[in-house]
Amino acid sequence: MSESTPLRPNSPEGRDVASVIHPLTNLKTHLEKGPVVVTEGDGVWVTDIHGKSYIEGMAGLWCISLGYGQERLVEAAADQMRRLPYYHLTNHKSHSPVIDLAEKLLEIAPVPMSKIWFANSGSEGNDSAARIVWYYWSAMGQPERRKIISHRQAYHGNTIASASLSGMHYNHASFGLPLDGFLHVTPPHHYRFAQPGESEDDFATRLADELDALIQAEGPETVGAFFTEPIMGSGGVIVPPPTYFEKVQAVLAKYEILLVADEVITGFARTGNMFGTTTMGLTPDMIVCAKGLSSAYIPISALMVNARVFDAIAAESDRVGIFGLSFTYSGHPVSAAVAREALAIYEDEDIVGHVRRMTPHFQGGLRELLDHPLVGEVRGEGLVAGVELVRDKATHAPFDSDLGIGPFCNQRAEDHGLIVRAIGDTISFCPPLIINQEEIEEMIARFRLALDDTWEKVRGEGLIAAE
Ligand SMILES: Cc1ncc(COP(=O)(O)O)c(C=O)c1O
Repeated sequence: MSESTPLRPNSPEGRDVASVIHPLTNLKTHLEKGPVVVTEGDGVWVTDIHGKSYIEGMAGLWCISLGYGQERLVEAAADQMRRLPYYHLTNHKSHSPVIDLAEKLLEIAPVPMSKIWFANSGSEGNDSAARIVWYYWSAMGQPERRKIISHRQAYHGNTIASASLSGMHYNHASFGLPLDGFLHVTPPHHYRFAQPGESEDDFATRLADELDALIQAEGPETVGAFFTEPIMGSGGVIVPPPTYFEKVQAVLAKYEILLVADEVITGFARTGNMFGTTTMGLTPDMIVCAKGLSSAYIPISALMVNARVFDAIAAESDRVGIFGLSFTYSGHPVSAAVAREALAIYEDEDIVGHVRRMTPHFQGGLRELLDHPLVGEVRGEGLVAGVELVRDKATHAPFDSDLGIGPFCNQRAEDHGLIVRAIGDTISFCPPLIINQEEIEEMIARFRLALDDTWEKVRGEGLIAAE
């Protein structure tokens, strides 16, 4: 809520704290701080209940890629609701919206794919992928291949399996997670984890060796799959070094381990190609998509599986008698119709071309912030980026996390009318893909104000390395 507004019991803010549990929020702090109650959106802008407008520098939760006010998506939903608001896919039933969407996804898939499985969220998509990994290895007569490897700092969602895949402390702490058999390796973040003097290529080799050693130690016959985001989003927008995936994929191929690409953030033009898989040179067996698939206008996720996987699970379902994975809303016709229309908009409006044209302004503009005394690294691809604030630019030394420097900067950005997201002391940006050059410049100008405020605080409190 805005600083000047008290948290009155009958205000929307007061009613919120009295009734709503918020995800990824300190629930105790929220009782005092209250929410920003957002009422409407237009393009890249949102307005709160007090009439204050903000640039939505995060596309919500990395998702409203086509921005607010896309009437074509509204119409697609309304049309489909009138025609057939619900049907399911179980027991040999289907409907046109889901067939149209699956065909389109297979057509634009970045590597050859065989079939599409639908769910309602990125978490369910990854959860389904984990289940399919286990089913696949049962089909192959190797049911002991249940272990799944992903990265520390990865974010793959929040069902029990996808939270286990995630490598975030907050997904695991006090929940008794991860489940056994979910293993995590070092994130491919050169700035933070390279040894002194280590080149990007040497760092990539060391991480691939670490993966190989882990597989050897666990026993290759027990490892089923490796999950990765092409570019890690919620872990701090981590772009792996150029040769990282080539080396990792060589290790996986050696042991016939399945590769699952989590494209929940990177899918649908975010990185300047339709899929991050293309940008980062991956050849996954499965791809999980959500968020931008419907531009977040409606919940839906899609899991692409290749022929290697589909043929095996089809045979296994025949053996078991039925494919036992099911959601009531899998391939919901309204969600499918909206997603199909979103894919048409990506094409009609050449969103990939637009992202490529905007990338130099966005990435270049953010990199100009490297002249700021707080900014240690700016990283990203296309229209997703992270700006890491550090205590000492020479040594990359971070601030003590208890100081909450990133969250402070995040709050100051909000005060200046810009919504970003602090991941520790990395401030992430993921604006709607339809953002224009002027809006990018405005977004960065507002962020510089927040950086200056943060600099004033850390200097005032003597928190920086000696100047
Ligand atoms: C890479 C990635 N995978 C999976 C998820 C989970 O998606 P959802 O929140 O739709 O369940 C997210 C959400 O931020 C994500 O960023």
